[in-house]
Amino acid sequence: MRFPKITGVGLVVVSMVLPVVDAHAGTVEGKELYRQYCAPCHHSQRYGLSGPPLIPETIGKKKDRDLAEIVRDGLPASNMPAFGTLSEAQIADIVAFLRSPVRDMAWGVEEMLGTLKLSDDKPLSPRPNPDMTNLFMIVEGGRGDVHFMDGDTFTLLDKVHVGTIHGGPKYDEQMKYAYLGGRDGWVVKYDLDAWREVARVRGGINTRNIAVSKDGKVLAVANALPANVTLIDTATLKPLKIIDAPGKSGAVYALRNSARFVISFRDRAELWFMDTGTLEIEKVALDQPFSDFFIEPNERFLIGAGRDGDHISIFDLERKKVTQSVKGEGMPHLASAALWGGRWESIVAYPHITAPRVTFLELVTVGDDHRLGQPGSANEAVVNDYRWEIKKEVKLKGAGFFARTHNDIPDVWVDTGSDTIQLLSKKTGSVRELVPSPGKRAMHIEFTKDGRFALVSIWETDGAVVIYDTASLKEVKRLPFNRPVGKYNATLKLY
Ligand code: HEC
Repeated sequence: MRFPKITGVGLVVVSMVLPVVDAHAGTVEGKELYRQYCAPCHHSQRYGLSGPPLIPETIGKKKDRDLAEIVRDGLPASNMPAFGTLSEAQIADIVAFLRSPVRDMAWGVEEMLGTLKLSDDKPLSPRPNPDMTNLFMIVEGGRGDVHFMDGDTFTLLDKVHVGTIHGGPKYDEQMKYAYLGGRDGWVVKYDLDAWREVARVRGGINTRNIAVSKDGKVLAVANALPANVTLIDTATLKPLKIIDAPGKSGAVYALRNSARFVISFRDRAELWFMDTGTLEIEKVALDQPFSDFFIEPNERFLIGAGRDGDHISIFDLERKKVTQSVKGEGMPHLASAALWGGRWESIVAYPHITAPRVTFLELVTVGDDHRLGQPGSANEAVVNDYRWEIKKEVKLKGAGFFARTHNDIPDVWVDTGSDTIQLLSKKTGSVRELVPSPGKRAMHIEFTKDGRFALVSIWETDGAVVIYDTASLKEVKRLPFNRPVGKYNATLKLY
């Protein structure tokens, strides 16, 4: 992408647009300056090209002052140039324009196909041969990379650049391919046999997350912009169908026991179930929008909550309705809940985004015996009827974001928004602590397949993934990364 020269002539031309004087004067001039200086890299509609999208959804958290500084000084070690020759007033006008909402966003099949890129990556040589059931993907937020790591030896095998990453990367159930989704809509297909990138396509402008169907054939991309769910053929990365989903899409997940995607919304009290073969949708009503939820691995329950709600809703996937509500203030963070136990002995522990505590929620069976599930089906179970009950709440050092555990270890590990990871005994709730790097934020925990080791992220520019023996709590290895976030184990990370 050629960088347009900023010349005096250019500035004169621009200043001729100035006479407009109304509340939007800055925006109007900003738009013209944008077209001239920024559009070649950031797209004429601000959708992003070689540079990222410049829309309220992506720059919303940055202050005007910070944006002006980026434009004036550029960004180091990147292709974002400095525009020191623009005046402060001109830069302020551009920033005002960047704040304006994008209307009538057009991102259809043609636009997507225009971004489809087959990779000329060669297979890795020598070809790694790790235990695929213990493979990890590690998201390095500071660099926008996803790394593949052997979970037995903790050696890094390969990495792929995706850009800003939103939602987790996904393996297909066959462990043939991994799919990495970026915030700006990019989806990368990676071959786990040849160990190479296969292709990438831009399935949206601003994306929440992705999911792969049980048979590995369809990829669903939940987009915030444009508001839709885009279905992509994994064989070609070509779009199959775009389904309008007005409102704020929450997320899409693939069920593992049936060929269905589940789609949630942040502002609509509905779940959509999509058949991954016919792509037909069944819409089911909820008592509140699920801005956050998890699916219990037996796929009998989907447990969700709304952002502003005061309760958690138990959605019974077999009865297809909300069957119970449980109190839940303090923004329970359900998507990151820790689960353990068995089919009808499930226990869930989840942190709260705005309150320093972990809640232990347990499935209790009650009443007369009767049959749940279709007789003879995988879901069949003879139990009493059920109820989910809060069994205890444990106070944390600070509000946490992620809770994780493994069936074979005694504790639930939670981050606390600080340098401390707290280990809560499943039995007693008693608390132990680990401080991987004093003064540096520790966050997100994942375990190896057998639960023998825990991986903790130090979420700093000069951060690391620190690996602990879960029995001795001794550190066994430290791998440096720039803002590492999620770590995804092939066996443990089901959704
Ligand atoms: C030569 C290409 C190019 C041009 C021209 C360009 N940019 Fe960029 N811009 C980039 C790239 C590449 C990045 C991402 C840098 C990185 O990786 O950190 C970027 C990043 C940014 C960011 C940070 C975005 C974020 O989400 O963090 C802002 C803001 C920005 N550009 C504004 C502008 C404005 C305003 C203009 C026009 C005055 C402009 N850019 C012109 C390439 C360009």
